Amino acid sequence: MSRLIIVSNRLPMSLQAQEDGSYTLRQNVGGLATAIGPYHRSHKDCLWIGWSGIDPQKYSEKELDRIRQAYRESRCIPIFLSKEELNGYYAGFSNNTLWPLFHDFSHEAVFRQEDWEMYRKVNMRFAQVVEPLIRKGDTIWVQDYHLMLLPKMLRERYPDASIGWFLHVPFPSAEIFRSLPWSREILEGVLGANLIGFHTVDFSASFLASLHRLLPELPVNRDGVVEMPDGHRAAIDAFPIGIDYNLYRRTAHSGLARAMRRGIDEVCGKSPRHRYRTSVTAEGVAANEAATSDANWWSHYMEKDIPESTLAKQAASSVGSRSNKVIVSVDRLDYTKGLPERLQAFGRMLDKYPEWVGHVTYYLLATPSREVVESYQRLKAQVDQLVGEINGRYSLLAWTPIHYITRSLSIKPVCGIYTAGDVALVTPLRDGMNLVAKEYLACHDGRDGTLVLSDMCGAADELTDAFIVNPYDIDMVCEALHNALEITPEESKRRNIRMQARLKVRTAANWCTSFLDSLRQVSTPGMTDRRL
Ligand code: ADP
Ligand code: F6P
Repeated sequence: MSRLIIVSNRLPMSLQAQEDGSYTLRQNVGGLATAIGPYHRSHKDCLWIGWSGIDPQKYSEKELDRIRQAYRESRCIPIFLSKEELNGYYAGFSNNTLWPLFHDFSHEAVFRQEDWEMYRKVNMRFAQVVEPLIRKGDTIWVQDYHLMLLPKMLRERYPDASIGWFLHVPFPSAEIFRSLPWSREILEGVLGANLIGFHTVDFSASFLASLHRLLPELPVNRDGVVEMPDGHRAAIDAFPIGIDYNLYRRTAHSGLARAMRRGIDEVCGKSPRHRYRTSVTAEGVAANEAATSDANWWSHYMEKDIPESTLAKQAASSVGSRSNKVIVSVDRLDYTKGLPERLQAFGRMLDKYPEWVGHVTYYLLATPSREVVESYQRLKAQVDQLVGEINGRYSLLAWTPIHYITRSLSIKPVCGIYTAGDVALVTPLRDGMNLVAKEYLACHDGRDGTLVLSDMCGAADELTDAFIVNPYDIDMVCEALHNALEITPEESKRRNIRMQARLKVRTAANWCTSFLDSLRQVSTPGMTDRRL
């Protein structure tokens, strides 16, 4: 029987030790795990090989065997990497060189020969684990920028193997890519695959432009198929990744997600009994009473010098008729996600449209990621500070503008947060696709709920009925956010229906099938082991 062997840097699940000494597995945060995880779980002929995320030095050989066994039960084969390997390959070349370069953050990219050598060595380690598992007829699907040398390494051993490679992040312009001292080796590594996939046509075009510039001797035909000197062909194409739409839609109706939504509604004063949120404290009661007669009630807290006429208008709309709203976002704490810029836009909106003060709450779920990399530590400090500043500046006695959660939550609470959001603020500075935008819409199937989306991510090509913004333009994001909060439920539903129709069809499962079908078509049948 032919099987699918998925190879990625990180396995889709992490190990969690239980009190009784047993191990359970929990799904990881990140696009790759959420998109391909369900396919792997539902296909019994599918194996997944990747880094376990654990430090083998902390475990005895016997424990490591038990860990391997726990993974094996979920058809995963863990690779254990030493601290030195992780430093050079993962924190170093993958996340300190390729990641910033591919996301147009070249100023953050560090080029170190030692990291490159470790990257090559660890790609070879992966090859050594994968090779003995390959049987005739298997398909090997290598994922992402961590393993760009692996397709060629596998091709050298199995010249007829069916090998696919997919990039989950953007591919940069040739001008940026060619600044990488090892750019040719990286291209040659990827060209070991039969099918090379990207999220968008633009990323495929950038890859082809780099090929043209750096390896002009390779013939590429009109369909984007490269003829390699060893006779194999590598096709290049775009496959926009989707989500498991029904899973998110269903989960949005689960008991836990509903309870979370109710909780958030209550905390944010969306349920009627909390209409006047400041009434929670004695001082608040006084402020509320004053509010009905005195337009200055909130400036009492804000200590701001605003003209009386503006105040009168604001107080009339904010206290009397304005209903409370919730903004949500869900991200890994990554500098490509544009969190500081987004927070500035939120702060600016409170400044420019003070009628939202006390009436809009931002749930910011941002889980720390890649904490070993210095740029991520800097970002965390910056976000912590900005949240503190905005909360310090605008909070009322019983209202906090930003609820900042840095824990990693599982799918039910995440869907609870999505469903509670009147607006999702998804503003990466650069992103291959961005699944969060799609998940939010799935959780609002048949309902209103407005998406403010960056035009710098792959999802913007598909979700054209969102409020599309330039994430670097703070004023533009501020205005879009205000307009999204003001939108009527009818208009919001009308926009969503079109986007949801597309997401329902272009699911993660269809994406897997479409990539694998194309791979089958372009691969040569049969397989020989060059060393046999
Ligand atoms: P990336 O792959 O760069 O992390 P995506 O938006 O494509 O970005 O995918 C992120 C995935 O990880 C989504 O499925 C999202 O639900 C999940 N996720 C992101 N951040 C969190 C978080 N803080 N807690 C729980 N899940 C998260
Ligand atoms: O989307 C890019 C990506 O690197 C995925 O491969 C991965 O799922 C996600 O980001 C999380 O990254 P990491 O495994 O470094 O925590």
